Amino acid sequence: MASNTDMILRTKFAERLCHWAIVFCFFLAAISGISWFFPTMSWMSGFLGTPQMARLLHPFLGIAVFAGLCYMFMRFVGYNMSARTDAIWFRRVKEVLLNKHDGEPLQIGKYNAGQKVLFWLIMASILALLISGLIMWRAYFAEYFPIPVLRLAILAHSVAGIGLILLIVGHIYLAIWVRGSITGMVTGYVSRAWARQHHDRWYGELKERKSNAAEAKGNGA
Ligand code: HEM
Repeated sequence: MASNTDMILRTKFAERLCHWAIVFCFFLAAISGISWFFPTMSWMSGFLGTPQMARLLHPFLGIAVFAGLCYMFMRFVGYNMSARTDAIWFRRVKEVLLNKHDGEPLQIGKYNAGQKVLFWLIMASILALLISGLIMWRAYFAEYFPIPVLRLAILAHSVAGIGLILLIVGHIYLAIWVRGSITGMVTGYVSRAWARQHHDRWYGELKERKSNAAEAKGNGA
């Protein structure tokens, strides 16, 4: 069991709160969306009370997910820009997925190349969902658009919705696969060993920053 000094902060409270609020809203929005898309799943619209309530709440839940992801985007975009070292992760993805990459460092920053790809696909999907969703929102906007535009919006909304659900299934699978990362998203903290194993470059940068700060403090004393 790791002691407190072995733990390092990975995700701040506001970011975690936002992430789990997104999860809550996303699941309710996704369940209602699936209930309309697949007739055999129509019973799922009962999750939001009644089917009518699901119709009413779905767009607002979607907007809440979009707003939450805007915040996540601002907080994390810097860590999700592509880096030259991402090529190492792609080259050795098989070893990474099999957890057999002990020896040589992989130069992984705060998020690995796979997480970065997911990040951008999630952001692109939510933008497509927002735009198409607003166009087809019968209560407020749909009447301003011609039928062909509405048809296109419905198609885009369905494709982006199913796409995002599949991306999130992959995201959850990876979060479970990399043991310790869900705890990190719940408590905010991960062990040094976890950071060294899964995000070696990020861990090195944190260590360097800490020793520079200690040095600066020593010089100032
Ligand atoms: C039960 C469902 C979910 C679980 C268990 C989960 C788990 C996690 C974990 C553990 C992390 C941190 C990864 C790390 O520190 O390396 C994370 C990050 C993140 N999650 Fe989730 N997540 C879930 C659902 C979602 C949903 C529905 C969305 C958005 C629609 C989402 C968007 C994100 C984003 C944007 C990040 C930041 C990753 C990055 O910046 O590359 N998550 N999630």
